[in-house]
Amino acid sequence: TSTLKEAFDGKFLLGTALHVDHTNGLRAASSSLVEKQYNSIVAENCMKPEEIHPSEGVYNFTEADQFVEYGEKHNMFIVGHTLVWHSQVPDWFFINAEGKECSREELIERMKDHIYTVVGRYKGRVDAWDVVNEAIDDKEGLRKSKWYNIIGEDFIDLAFQFAHEADPNAELYYNDYSMILPHRRAEAVRLVKRLLDKGIRVDGIGMQAHYGVDYVKIPEFEKSITDFADLGVKVMLTELDISVLPFPTEEISAEISQKYAKSPEFDPYPENLPDSMQVKLAQNYVDLFKVLIKHQDKISRVTFWGVNDAHTWRNNWPIEGRTDHPLLFDRNNQPKEAYHAVLELAKSN
Ligand code: G3I
Repeated sequence: TSTLKEAFDGKFLLGTALHVDHTNGLRAASSSLVEKQYNSIVAENCMKPEEIHPSEGVYNFTEADQFVEYGEKHNMFIVGHTLVWHSQVPDWFFINAEGKECSREELIERMKDHIYTVVGRYKGRVDAWDVVNEAIDDKEGLRKSKWYNIIGEDFIDLAFQFAHEADPNAELYYNDYSMILPHRRAEAVRLVKRLLDKGIRVDGIGMQAHYGVDYVKIPEFEKSITDFADLGVKVMLTELDISVLPFPTEEISAEISQKYAKSPEFDPYPENLPDSMQVKLAQNYVDLFKVLIKHQDKISRVTFWGVNDAHTWRNNWPIEGRTDHPLLFDRNNQPKEAYHAVLELAKSN
């Protein structure tokens, strides 16, 4: 029997996000599954500014070093995540020595130092970076983050420019969620086209793909892939998971969270996922992978956001303490129906 990376060989890379416990030996069974099944990894948290650059001039590379060494040891395509994001970035970035909000010039200098230091440290070792993450607003235009408000929309241009300067051979990606919603897709196209027209290096668009069962409209999914590919960049699914719990969208709504927190549906599958849901989840994955295989000339990588159901972030979002089952492997690292269905599909195509 083959494994995911073997079944998809020649189509696209198959990846997973790693927690620090995958590279320090604490999740040995789960790590050996990673080594068998996947040929690409991304850091779930340890390269985020909050973790790697917690205060000015202080870098904490221990976990990121371990992550990169692990990928090298196992010959994997290594993705760094993420350089510039509105979330998980410590406040000090935006405050100057006088305790005031820093100026455009100061913030650009800090961003440059951050990118040069982090990308520079792993030059020639990390294959690709999610340079800018989630810069698109949920309603319209670009998100009014501190990066945007202080620097202006060219914070994106500068981030890509600095990353390219720090490692001219690394691939550079724009990464965002809900890329199948028409207005967010259009904004991503506009954004990446603007960068490419200016001669800025952008190698690909990452569609995060935090979905839920029966949430994805396949024609929209397919249109995003083809629209992005038409720009001449690679397309990838960078954070794939399909929640089986109520609240199947990628958008946060406090109101809906509150509603489910009180409903009997709060935690409907606290033990195993029932067979009927296993089948439904498998079908949802198959529907996506059919499209991905059809467009394999445009897709360079599909990465799951986590290894098994025990540690997925979906157990805690948008409400903490639920029991989700969004991945291909269950809490004991056993392959689920969805795993077998995806594997069979790849082998027969
Ligand atoms: O490591 C600290 C620990 O020291 C502390 O005691 C504990 C208390 O809260 O927090 C721990 O950090 C948590 C971290 O995950 C590591 O487990 C953070 O609170 C928690 O917010 C963080 O969540 C991560 C989230 O991004 C925010 O950075 C999730 O694991 C991670 O899966 C998620 O990933 C994001 C992608 O980067 C971008 N796209 C969306 C995706 C899902 O939100």
